[in-house]
Amino acid sequence: MRSVQRNILLTPGPATTTDTVKFAQIVPDICPREPEFGQLMESISTDLTAIVADEKQYTAVLFGGSGTAAMDAVLSSVIGEDTIIIINNGAYGQRMCEIATVYGLHFIEFVSPPDKPVDLSALEQILKLTHTPITHLTVVHHETTTGLLNNINAIGELCKTYQVELIVDAISSFGAVPIQMEDMNISYLIASSNKNVQGLPGVSFVIAPRQKFEGLQHVRQRSYYLNLYDQYKYFLKHNQMRFTAPIQTLYALRQAINEFMLEGIEQRYSRYTQSWESLTQGIHRLGLNHIVAEEHHSKLLTSIIEPICEGYDFQQMHDFFYTKGFTIYPGKVEKLNTFRIANIGDITHHDIDAFLVLLEIYLRDIGFPLREAVITYESKQK
Ligand SMILES: Cc1ncc(COP(=O)(O)O)c(C=O)c1O
Repeated sequence: MRSVQRNILLTPGPATTTDTVKFAQIVPDICPREPEFGQLMESISTDLTAIVADEKQYTAVLFGGSGTAAMDAVLSSVIGEDTIIIINNGAYGQRMCEIATVYGLHFIEFVSPPDKPVDLSALEQILKLTHTPITHLTVVHHETTTGLLNNINAIGELCKTYQVELIVDAISSFGAVPIQMEDMNISYLIASSNKNVQGLPGVSFVIAPRQKFEGLQHVRQRSYYLNLYDQYKYFLKHNQMRFTAPIQTLYALRQAINEFMLEGIEQRYSRYTQSWESLTQGIHRLGLNHIVAEEHHSKLLTSIIEPICEGYDFQQMHDFFYTKGFTIYPGKVEKLNTFRIANIGDITHHDIDAFLVLLEIYLRDIGFPLREAVITYESKQK
């Protein structure tokens, strides 16, 4: 098999993929209305569901579109005329508020710090004391803004007590952090193809009990294209997406799922964790710090405080790494200058070690006072 230039994407998805996933896109032309293609999508839906739930009771509804498409589909299709609580502790919680505003939903924004766990008793007070009926609560599992992993078990317990349906954006945790929807009381789970599943961008999906999808026929649907009930029903009847499916991305996703199944979720998360440990030890050694304490950290993406040094410029640092085959990501935390390094995708701690060698060179070049330069590029070259 030919190989493709290997770029190391230290971005929180799209992530580095295997060549076998990339080449799985090269298939004979096929019309997505053919039964053969329907079977491919059905197998993808079943296997994605099995990662987090019993596939006999739950199913995954697929959309052509990035993760935000599935967030949009859920918010526009699931919430009736009552109120939803949106936990906002980062850019993706904020995005849910923006989507809810566009659709004119009644929502309560629960703002929480981007680097600290959610205050559960304050959340409970809202559930207990709000007079308008609250039917749903939504939260991002892994806030990719900072690396904060929200405590879904505890939030799910609260939702159970107050009989509120829990919607989880698991776009950046699915396929790495183990999730069991029933045990965690999650009604709707949102994820996509191009993060920890290690597929290519272009497919997002919503997993829920079949019976919940059936119930959506009674909810006013607000979007034509991203209509969750219609997409579910159409697939059930025809084994097809309502509109043209991203064919090649789906073939690549099938291959990515096969590779995921071979590795297993525990092994995958442990490979990622090993990379995270190398990364955090390495940056500390060089004198940099990250935000979010280890006990609340996803270990998938790290938000690092930018070096305080006159010579520092994020774009220049990005370009330095880019020419060497590594892509890094800007920060997203308000009022704090950070940049982000993700350690997901088809990479290992050896790639992180190579990144750290280059980081040391960059920091040295800009005159940053290195705490302890134990790795030196020159010695690695010998
Ligand atoms: C938690 C979370 N939600 C939503 C999104 C949006 O996904 P997309 O950019 O694929 O639309 C992302 C993307 O990084 C994410 O990390």
